[in-house]
Amino acid sequence: MNQDQLKKMVGELAATYVKDGMVVGLGTGSTVKFMVDALGQRVAKEGLNIVGVPTSDRTADQGRHLGIPIKNVDEVDQIDLTIDGADQINADFQGIKGGGAAHLFEKIVAINSKRNMWIVDQSKMVQTLGSFPLPLEVIPYGSQQLFKRLAAKGLKPVFREQNGQRVLTDSKNYIIDLHLGEIKAPFELAQYLNRQVGLVEHGLFLNVVNTVIVGYDDGPKVLQ
Ligand code: 5RP
Repeated sequence: MNQDQLKKMVGELAATYVKDGMVVGLGTGSTVKFMVDALGQRVAKEGLNIVGVPTSDRTADQGRHLGIPIKNVDEVDQIDLTIDGADQINADFQGIKGGGAAHLFEKIVAINSKRNMWIVDQSKMVQTLGSFPLPLEVIPYGSQQLFKRLAAKGLKPVFREQNGQRVLTDSKNYIIDLHLGEIKAPFELAQYLNRQVGLVEHGLFLNVVNTVIVGYDDGPKVLQ
């Protein structure tokens, strides 16, 4: 199976965990896109009655287009289950997210959810986090100074660009990726990053997820 087939397989399986009446957090990314497609089909064919809380403009647009009722995180009392992708997950279920520049909203929705499920293809499962660059969402004002502090600390920051322009998040902030290679102490790094002024949120998701569905060539595995 190619990577897209693995993503589709876990996305479709994850959509079966959604039950009638649920408020569902909808993550962002190419794997989640398959899951939202499958949910849209269930809404259309089975009359599944849900509310989706999206984590990006992209996911909100997709959900509305498929007829999934969409609400903002501040318009719901609680989120029953959030289904999201991830960029890397280690054996302790700690993860890196933000490859799609949406980790700020993803983290807000995740911490307001009763349960969190991540859906990934097998390539995302790692021994040690960090070979995937760690995304930081930063406020543009003062970001060059923040960049210099991160560089001086040896964290190898790079402003994320696309077509020669700095990438802007849905909140009009920049992304700085830390090219660390290996993150040996994720909790300590998270504490340091949490203290940096102008850094709105980092992509380390620690002790957030309850269930991971991994797509392998011989089928999906549900880990919890
Ligand atoms: C977006 C994310 C995504 O969940 C993550 O990048 C995985 O994306 P994909 O499913 O496209 O591989 O964190 O900010």
